[in-house]
Amino acid sequence: MNAKRLAAEKAVEYVKNGMVVGLGTGSTATWAINALGEKVKAGLEIQAIASSVASENLAKQYGISLIDFSELNIIHVTIDGADEVDPKGNLIKGGGGALLREKIIAYNSKEFIVIVDDTKLVNTLGKFPLPVEVVPFAVDLTLKQLRNLGSTAIIRKKDGKEFVTDNANLIADCSFGEIQDPDKLNTSLLLIPGVAECGLFLHSKVSQVIIGYTDGTVDFL
Ligand code: A5P
Repeated sequence: MNAKRLAAEKAVEYVKNGMVVGLGTGSTATWAINALGEKVKAGLEIQAIASSVASENLAKQYGISLIDFSELNIIHVTIDGADEVDPKGNLIKGGGGALLREKIIAYNSKEFIVIVDDTKLVNTLGKFPLPVEVVPFAVDLTLKQLRNLGSTAIIRKKDGKEFVTDNANLIADCSFGEIQDPDKLNTSLLLIPGVAECGLFLHSKVSQVIIGYTDGTVDFL
């Protein structure tokens, strides 16, 4: 059984007619968009806001009606994956490089549902290097500040070139070791000029975590 798909399909059960839905990014969120797309084909009426160009393109293939950030009034529910989840429901996100739009959408959603398989569960965040989105023109100064905070900050590359986000920024992957206080680190990172956003999502903004297991069961946090 595909555990990511299981969690995704459980989350999609929360989506009802008339809702504005935030679409996440990544392989787990893709399962959710697929499931939503099938429901839309079967008559479900929703509008969606996408957290990446990739998710927007997938939604378009299903005929899901998309709205733009400039037209948004309310997001009823957002469904998105994560790279790590701690026991309180704090997250690391951004493995796919979409963290800035994901965080804006999650922050502005009434409900934020996180979907993961059990491999994403950790006792303490930090094994997965924390993605930090940085503006390109001052990247060296920003990297220096990220290293001063105690991380090994490395600019993400893809196919030998710098990975560029949908917002024309760069991603610094920052290993901090175990992150004992995600709240404090989030604040410290956001105080660095040149940091657009970081991939720490705090539990206070997470409504529910749905965990899929390969044995076909789901659990909730
Ligand atoms: C995308 O930027 C990320 O935040 C993803 O949600 C996260 O990396 C999880 O991805 P998978 O669902 O592919 O594991």
